[in-house]
Amino acid sequence: MELEGRVALVTGASGDIGRAIAVALAAAGCDIAVGYAGNADGAKAACELVEAHGRRAMPVQVDQADPASVETAVAEAARMGRLDILVNNAAWNIGIPFPDLDSLTVDIWDRIYDTNARGPFLLSRAAAKQMRAGGKGGRIVNIASVAGLSPGGSSIAYATSKAALIHLTRCLAVALAPDITVNCVAPGLVENTRMALRLPPAVAAAARQRAVLERASSAEDIAAQVVTFCRADSVTGQVLVIDAGIFFH
Ligand SMILES: NC(=O)c1ccc[n+]([C@@H]2O[C@H](COP(=O)([O-])OP(=O)(O)OC[C@H]3O[C@@H](n4cnc5c(N)ncnc54)[C@H](OP(=O)(O)O)[C@@H]3O)[C@@H](O)[C@H]2O)c1
Repeated sequence: MELEGRVALVTGASGDIGRAIAVALAAAGCDIAVGYAGNADGAKAACELVEAHGRRAMPVQVDQADPASVETAVAEAARMGRLDILVNNAAWNIGIPFPDLDSLTVDIWDRIYDTNARGPFLLSRAAAKQMRAGGKGGRIVNIASVAGLSPGGSSIAYATSKAALIHLTRCLAVALAPDITVNCVAPGLVENTRMALRLPPAVAAAARQRAVLERASSAEDIAAQVVTFCRADSVTGQVLVIDAGIFFH
């Protein structure tokens, strides 16, 4: 798909990886609906970076755990004139060690699932209707995690919600074919993100040492892969791990 003049909704673009994805899509020629939940300043900063590439940017507030908010946000994004791309990047997490089962309350479990798994489904369903308006197609790219492929990450609920997002990718690839492709990037530890900086230094250092490339992954590499998935016409239902070579090792 030629990206020049397309409109993309990037959720969580007030955050570190989402901002990089918004900028990469803008550099490829897209106008961007900059999704955010509470960090309006972060959304404004991302909008300014998009506009520096000569593209239009519009902040779109959304709580993707709330179905009504999702419908409103997608309709708002489509007011940019069209909607061609959805990047389901936003997620919520909290650190709960795997063995501490009692700390994983029902409320925390539901918030993680409502945000990280149900939210992307509702966003994809609403966005697909806009993408198909006038007989057009589109692209959906989900940002999961290696925690969805092997048992690790900030909590059991986070890891299993990302596993759900990975399989949602495959299920939606079938459901939305042939005019909409659905793919997924599964990052490992991403350098210089708030999420990575919250980890104890020893944990982050161990992740870098385990990687065959002896480094963590970068938001720019993830963003570049999102652009590649958006350009591709014959790739769907795929999950690409970007972790500097830990997962396969
Ligand atoms: N950083 C890593 O090392 C790493 C590794 C593997 C996977 N990932 C994945 O990469 C993605 C981006 O991570 P990041 O490091 O960029 O995280 P981040 O900087 O913490 O950003 C998270 C984003 O999600 C948004 N968000 C949270 N709850 C939301 C809700 N209910 N509705 C809508 N938006 C909501 C936040 O919005 P506000 O800030 O505006 O509230 C923020 O923009 C996530 O899916 C994460 O799981 C990250």
